[in-house]
Amino acid sequence: MIESPLQAYAEAHTTPEIPILARLNRETNLTQIHPQMLSGHLQGTLLRMFCQMIRPERILEIGTFTGYSAISLALGLGHAPSGIVHTIEINPEQEQGIRQFIREAGLEEQVILHIGKAIEIIPALTESWDLVFIDADKPNYLNYYKMVLPHVRQGGFIMADNVLWDGKVIGDPAKMDKDTLGIIEFNDFVHQDDHVENAVLPFRDGLMIIRKK
Ligand SMILES: C[S@@+](CC[C@H](N)C(=O)[O-])C[C@H]1O[C@@H](n2cnc3c(N)ncnc32)[C@H](O)[C@@H]1O
Repeated sequence: MIESPLQAYAEAHTTPEIPILARLNRETNLTQIHPQMLSGHLQGTLLRMFCQMIRPERILEIGTFTGYSAISLALGLGHAPSGIVHTIEINPEQEQGIRQFIREAGLEEQVILHIGKAIEIIPALTESWDLVFIDADKPNYLNYYKMVLPHVRQGGFIMADNVLWDGKVIGDPAKMDKDTLGIIEFNDFVHQDDHVENAVLPFRDGLMIIRKK
């Protein structure tokens, strides 16, 4: 894990946070019980740049929270006038705030918010995904992976956040909770899946990049 002085240095040497994202970051920190779930300046910039590299047209995000990563991904869609981010959030209390920030970012045409359980919403989305970002409940990571992989185009990408889970993935197996076990199950399965190649980035809480062969 990157220690905070290095984190501060890295952020100070990263393109400044876009004003609407800085405002959402601040509001999330002022109003949410677990603001650390938000992707933040570094990861948001990285997500935007991944979009500029991969040039996706259809993106699925599982786990919206306050909308920071969905907006970051959509801001990377400059190459694709008809590009869309579908994002799924289970908590209806987030809906109003997410929609407000999507509107203020001028991204109402690009970001489609679905409120409900991802496991029920994903099968109803009949898209071929260029990029999927998994960032919701950890015990379902593998279920989400198995559901979306057949609908990811060849050469498309899946990214999964928190795959090092605060270092708990290499902790004492006897003390592991269901979230940790879910992440380990996901990491092991993907790593052994011949349909993909993958890299685990020890960045923030661990970011897995998966490419469908
Ligand atoms: C880590 S946060 C997402 C952070 C966001 N992607 C970002 O980077 O700013 C995880 C979110 O997933 C949502 N979530 C948890 N279980 C879910 C489920 N079964 N279906 C959809 N969303 C879920 C939570 O309510 C929470 O807002």
